[in-house]
Amino acid sequence: MAKEICVIGTGYVGLIAAVGLSDFGNYVTGVDIDPKKIDSLNKGILPIYEPGVEPYLKRNLQSGRLKFTVDIDKALSESQVIFLAVGTPPKKDGSADLAQVESVINSIVKNLNGYKVIVTKSTVPVGTNRWIYEKLKEKAPTGTFDVVSNPEFLREGKAIQDFFHPDRLVVGHETGKAREVMEDVYRSLFINQTPMLFCNWETAELIKYASNAFLAVKISFINEMANLADAVGGDVKQIAKAMGMDGRISSKFLHPGPGYGGSCFPKDTQAIVATGKKYQIDMSVIRQAIDANEKQKHLIVKKLQEQFGTLEGKKITLLGLAFKAETDDIRESSAIAVVEDLLESGAQISCTDPQAIDNFQAMFPQCSYNRDSFEALTDADICIILTDWNEYRNIDLQEMGRVMNEKVIFDVRNILKPSSARAMGFTYLGHGVQS
Ligand code: UDX
Repeated sequence: MAKEICVIGTGYVGLIAAVGLSDFGNYVTGVDIDPKKIDSLNKGILPIYEPGVEPYLKRNLQSGRLKFTVDIDKALSESQVIFLAVGTPPKKDGSADLAQVESVINSIVKNLNGYKVIVTKSTVPVGTNRWIYEKLKEKAPTGTFDVVSNPEFLREGKAIQDFFHPDRLVVGHETGKAREVMEDVYRSLFINQTPMLFCNWETAELIKYASNAFLAVKISFINEMANLADAVGGDVKQIAKAMGMDGRISSKFLHPGPGYGGSCFPKDTQAIVATGKKYQIDMSVIRQAIDANEKQKHLIVKKLQEQFGTLEGKKITLLGLAFKAETDDIRESSAIAVVEDLLESGAQISCTDPQAIDNFQAMFPQCSYNRDSFEALTDADICIILTDWNEYRNIDLQEMGRVMNEKVIFDVRNILKPSSARAMGFTYLGHGVQS
C-alpha cells in the first residue's frame, strides 16, 4: 500500500529520494529550511545539476504525489514514514556533527501522533540509529515508532539510474513491523526482485562504509599500479582489463585518475578509520588508501615539474574541475590540490569545465575561467585533463594544437588515445599508459 512519506532535507540524497519515492506511487512531502529552494522545487526547478531528474520532478509534482514545504511540523504529523536526509557534516575532530539529526528528532517528538517509522538515509556513524531510537524513547516514552537504517548508494551524475535500478537495498531494522513498512515503501523495487538485505542497524551502517571504503581502496590500488606501470614501461589499461576479466576482481572502479574526490569517499573513509580507532581496531588498509589518495593528487604537478622543470610563468589549462563527470560538484575534487600546487609553482592557471566553473571560481578567483575549452586553451603551454567529461574524450586535437602555445597534454584520466595525440605532434603524458 502506498505510504504518506516525508523526507527531511532536500539536499542531494533527500531530493532524489523524494522524487523517486513519489514515482513509486507514495505520497511524499520534501521538507527543507531553505524557503528559496522549496519555492524553486515546487515550480519544478532543480537547485543542482543532475541529469534526468527534472522530468521525474515535474511529473510527480503534476500528479499531486509530490510537494515541498518548509513546514516540518505539518509534514511530520501527516506522515507514516519519515526519511532523514539532513546533513551530517564532519566536525573538527573528524566525527560527524549530528546537530541537524537531533533537531529533527525534537520535531518528531512533538508530532508523534501515531505509529511512525523513522528511516535514516543520510550516511551516519555506526551507532547512530541506536542513538536515535534511544533519544526518541527518552523524549517520547509513550510514542509508538520504529527506527530503520536505509543507507543510500547512489552516485552523483547517475542518481536516477541508481535509484530506480539499485544493485541492492539495505534495510537495518529491529522489528517485523518496520520490515513490512519498508517492503511497502519500496514495493515497486521489491516486486521487481531487487535484492533487499535485512539486517540489524549496526550492520546496515557498516555496509555503507565498507562499500565506499572498498571502492576507495580499489581506486588507490589502481592509481598505485599506474604509477608503477609508468616507471617500468607497462600499460595500466591492459593491466586493469586483464585484472577485470577475473570475476573475483571485476572491471569496475579500476580506472586510474587524479585521486578520488566527492562528498562520500573522502568523508566515509575518514569516518570508518575514526570508528575503528574508537573500538581499538586498526583500519590500516583504509588508512593507507586515504594516504595514497592524498599523495596521488600532488603527484600531478610533481610529474610536470620532473618532466619540464620550473612551471613559473607557464600557462597551464585545466580541462575539468568537477570531481568526476556529469556533476557540478567540486567537493574534495583533485582539481583543488592541483590548483594549489600550481599556484605555489608560479604558473598562470586557466580553467574550464562544462558545469563546475561557478563553484570553482568562488574558491579560486585568482585563476582565469572560460566555458569554451579552446578559449581556455588559447596560448597554453600545458593542458591537464582532470575530469572524464565525454566532450573531452572527443576533443578536436587539431584545433587544440592550433590554439596552444606548446603542444603538451597531461591526460591524467587516460581518456585520449596516446598514439593519436602523438601523431598530431603533441607531447603526450598519460597515467601509466604507453600507446
Ligand atoms: C560514491 C559511491 O559510488 C556511491 O555508492 C555513494 O553513495 C556515494 O559515493 P560518487 O561520490 O557520486 O558515489 O562518485 P563515484 O562515481 O563513486 O566516484 C568517486 C570518485 O572516484 C570520483 O572522484 C571518481 O572520479 C573516482 N573514480 C571512480 C576513479 O578515479 N576511478 C574509478 O575507476 C572510479
